[in-house]
Amino acid sequence: MKKTIVSLILLFTSFSFVIHAQEENVPSWAKETKAEKEKRMEWWTHDRFGMFIHWGIYALPARHEWVQNRERISKSEYKKYQELFNPDLYDPKEWAAKAKAAGMKYVVLTTKHHDGFCMWDTKHTDYKITNTPYGKDILKPFVDAFRAEGIRIGFYYSLIDWHHPHFTYDNMHPDKPENWKEENKNRDMTKYRQYMKDQLTELLTEFGQIDELFLDFSYPGEGGKGHKEWDSESLLKHVRSLMPNVIVDNRMDLNHTTWGWDYFTPEQFMPSEWPTLNGERIPWETCQTFSGSWGYYRDEYTWKSPHQLITMLIETVSKGGNLLLNVGPTARGVFDDRANERLDAIAQWMKFHSRSIYGCTQAPDEFSRPQNCFLTYNPEKKRLYIHVLEWPFKSLQLKGYKGKFKYAQLLNDDSELKFSSPKVSGIEAGGGNMTEFGQSDDVFIQLPVERPNVEIPVIELVLE
Ligand code: GLC
Repeated sequence: MKKTIVSLILLFTSFSFVIHAQEENVPSWAKETKAEKEKRMEWWTHDRFGMFIHWGIYALPARHEWVQNRERISKSEYKKYQELFNPDLYDPKEWAAKAKAAGMKYVVLTTKHHDGFCMWDTKHTDYKITNTPYGKDILKPFVDAFRAEGIRIGFYYSLIDWHHPHFTYDNMHPDKPENWKEENKNRDMTKYRQYMKDQLTELLTEFGQIDELFLDFSYPGEGGKGHKEWDSESLLKHVRSLMPNVIVDNRMDLNHTTWGWDYFTPEQFMPSEWPTLNGERIPWETCQTFSGSWGYYRDEYTWKSPHQLITMLIETVSKGGNLLLNVGPTARGVFDDRANERLDAIAQWMKFHSRSIYGCTQAPDEFSRPQNCFLTYNPEKKRLYIHVLEWPFKSLQLKGYKGKFKYAQLLNDDSELKFSSPKVSGIEAGGGNMTEFGQSDDVFIQLPVERPNVEIPVIELVLE
């Protein structure tokens, strides 16, 4: 017993030492209180839903944005896509209108993906959009069009670069020669690190306010790259000095710090609950695809249904997270029919239900989750939203809800829903009345037999 207490004390002391040490190690430029961070991320936490766009010359092969790596295409062979890229139908206003209609409040575009090709007129390489048959910048018109719709701007920027002559060969490099370790002696990562800084300077000074920065990604260890190779601390310092308010993802391999990331990024994965670190809930944004690929993939046939996608949005918010949902435009510059169909379905649902998404988060524990439902909660407006995935017959039982709300309605048409609680607890009360199959602190909401004609109906409770 004594031994346990001593080791507990020791454990606690060393734990607080770690936390303390961590705090002491926060670089001066990164110091920020919890409240300041929350304030900086306020819009993001409120808005919940963004559009990811993966677009680059890999839209031409139309076989995944990693095609250069997957098919081991050499740099010289891959060049043919630069020589052919001509998105003649590109109209960012159309994209922005679709994002807006779908209720997406921010957008994150790939300015450069792992292939190294740049979608803006950067001064630091020739490998860019102005050197294609298209011949014009893509990024400025993009930013203007989305901003005009009131959508916030985020940039994705790949840390990995399979084109830059000083990006050292590693396990993942598609173009590495047999003797790549030897060859790396002719490559100088210092130059590549400077290149990233110079490009980020352009991205963070020439396009107005940038709200989210998605740096992608690290694979530390033997034959990989992590914070040492990127010099992540210095890179992040550079970013913050140019755009202090920007919200930055966690893919620079700084997860061991408290200051080197703003939010976590589960990719094509739904956490079973709100993710925590050292026992504290952390901001998170899951990025998801329509079909498994990020870049346009013509022959990909595992497209999620509108029901799955809307459920994903609801489930994410029900666990306190954001959803960044990806579209991969074609090489002609448009969203394909399959993407449009899904965006339209989301738009139709969001038109009537966005109140259960914006400003919402996980419901307090006192509200139990009814069968086949997800809950979201707006703490400011004091509303609870019950998202009913499977429409039950005539009534929905809310366990322990008695006295917790004063009014109930369907969200799609604001039509009142009556409710009542059993007078006596339990089935032994007899009589066959549905309300008798519950406890006296339960509430039964009376529902129409016919499911409202929306993808996922939502019940709104006005809380006491
Ligand atoms: C991954 C992939 C990439 C995609 C990204 C989106 O890191 O390498 O292709 O852009 O995640 O989260």
